[in-house]
Amino acid sequence: MGVVDPFSVARSAGLELIGKSEGLTLTDGTMELRADFGRMLPRLKQGRLQQELLVKAARAKGIERPWAIDATAGFGEDSLLLAAAGFSVDLYEQDCVIAALLKDALDRAADDPALAAAVSRMRLHAGEDSIAGLRHTAELIGQGELAAPDVVYLDPMFPGRTKSAAVKKKFQLLHHLEQPCADEETLVEAALAVHPRKVVIKRPVKGPLLAGVKPSYQLAGKAVRYDVLVPPHP
Ligand SMILES: C[S@@+](CC[C@H](N)C(=O)[O-])C[C@H]1O[C@@H](n2cnc3c(N)ncnc32)[C@H](O)[C@@H]1O
Repeated sequence: MGVVDPFSVARSAGLELIGKSEGLTLTDGTMELRADFGRMLPRLKQGRLQQELLVKAARAKGIERPWAIDATAGFGEDSLLLAAAGFSVDLYEQDCVIAALLKDALDRAADDPALAAAVSRMRLHAGEDSIAGLRHTAELIGQGELAAPDVVYLDPMFPGRTKSAAVKKKFQLLHHLEQPCADEETLVEAALAVHPRKVVIKRPVKGPLLAGVKPSYQLAGKAVRYDVLVPPHP
């Protein structure tokens, strides 16, 4: 397969990727969208970070260097929470334009003393399908070349409906690009195949179960819910 150029992919969706002083920017000429970790800083403060529902859902008690695979990285904000909480995180983002925006945010954050430690634990697999990545990881685990990850994290859907008009508009830019998530069952199967301690799934608070799989338990907030699958240990 040839190298995919995010600039021409954006153009073919009627959008433009532009290098600006604030960072790589996706625009339709009216709205602008960037990945940016700076706005996450208040949420990374120690007292507050431990209160994040995602951090509570993913917590790997007693593990010195926990490892998470974020199979649906998007703009990497959830991965950043996990990395700030001590996880090493492998991030898969299949869309090359979103991956380019995310890479730019990671590069900028590496120069920010408040973010550098956390982003040093984040490894982006840009433009890669996590289902293939998880299957390959499962093979390496089967051959004894890798230990199983502690957490696989799944958040396949950008919000379709939100009360904030501004957020809604911004996400419209992404709807020009977003490929539908491969079938939900395949994603959950690939996640379970690496034998993680937990699969953590983010859902709208009243949304249906992903692939209809019943979680072991749920942590619900105002807008989102985390469904946690704890597979029996092999
Ligand atoms: C809702 S967003 C994730 C948002 C993310 N949790 C965050 O904090 O920014 C879902 C992303 O998953 C990506 N995605 C969906 N299926 C994927 C797959 N099989 N492999 C890699 N990326 C995938 C989509 O391209 C999209 O960017």
